[in-house]
Amino acid sequence: MPFSIREFEALARDRLPRYVYDFMAGGADDEVTVRANENAFARLRLLPRVLRGRPKRDLGITLFGDEITMPVVLSPTAFHRLADPEGELATARAAARAGTVMIASMASTASIGDIAKAGGADLALWFQAYIQSDTGITRTLVRRAEDAGCRALVVTVDSPVFGWRERDHRNGFHHLPVGWHCENMRDLTGDGGVLDIEMVADLSWDHIDQLVAMTDLPVVLKGVLHPDDAVTAVDHGVRGLLVSNHGGRQLDTAIATIDAVADIAAVVDVPVLVDGGVRRGTDVVKALAFGARAVGVGRPVLWGLAARGEDGVTEVLELLRAEIDRALALTGCASAHEVARDLVREDRC
Ligand SMILES: Cc1cc2nc3c(=O)[nH]c(=O)nc-3n(C[C@H](O)[C@H](O)[C@H](O)COP(=O)(O)O)c2cc1C
Repeated sequence: MPFSIREFEALARDRLPRYVYDFMAGGADDEVTVRANENAFARLRLLPRVLRGRPKRDLGITLFGDEITMPVVLSPTAFHRLADPEGELATARAAARAGTVMIASMASTASIGDIAKAGGADLALWFQAYIQSDTGITRTLVRRAEDAGCRALVVTVDSPVFGWRERDHRNGFHHLPVGWHCENMRDLTGDGGVLDIEMVADLSWDHIDQLVAMTDLPVVLKGVLHPDDAVTAVDHGVRGLLVSNHGGRQLDTAIATIDAVADIAAVVDVPVLVDGGVRRGTDVVKALAFGARAVGVGRPVLWGLAARGEDGVTEVLELLRAEIDRALALTGCASAHEVARDLVREDRC
């Protein structure tokens, strides 16, 4: 079994067709932000405490009333069937077993209803949506998420247009293999066909108001990087924030997310999550120190899925759990709640 997420990536790379690996690993333009997300974690150094008598650690946290077993959720990623034939169903089973949140992508190759069934009652399932220009379609998607028992709605707002993903253009990857679809977009046309997901460039806070009014589920904004936007979001009824630059796949040279999270956590009192470049338990501890409630992982889940299917996802999550536990022990913390801001030093490497 691989000993690290990096080793899972190497396995996945060996197993996947080139165009699929590139789609997953790649980002926008020169991929500066893809690299920056990881590098920014490495640049931060920990200042551990000793002799605090902490025999055991409790990794659990609460999100919208649900207790999850570690401060790691599965960020939404498209098209899991590209990684494994079982696709999102395998991911859902692994997330349920790990006792954490899966944020299912609107661009999944299984419907949200089928993902919910696969995960079963134990899975805290959230649904990620892109607001569509036809409000009726957005409303149908929200209802489907509610009917599937989703616990929160994540709205991605960093994608008014697609980022320029050069690897995909070079590989000619623009469509799913024949017969595969974004299953959540099925039956949304009059003739029962499958619609493409639309990126809507004129989205504004009015759309967020509309969405918040549409559902009782907590709405989480994904893709916020500026603290002023975070404050505005909360004013508009948003109940959580996922600080993200889409894994460096949208605006290249956008700030690394770990560099954005502290300023946002300081100005809002809703749960703040952060994703992008989390590859080690120590990364998670750094995010907690900066005020995040939890982190999201995108590519690591895909590497696990591509390398070893459902078991691979489980192994990736359990690797992270063990690393977080060890990092807490080595920094003198008994729980996620004990991770204090002064555990991280930016100025002294
Ligand atoms: C292959 C791939 C597909 C993605 N698809 C989506 C998506 O459908 N919706 C979305 O909001 N974010 C999507 N993302 C972004 C992730 O949710 C997340 O922000 C990012 O992967 C986090 O960075 P990490 O991969 O370094 O953990 C995708 C990312 C990847 C790598």
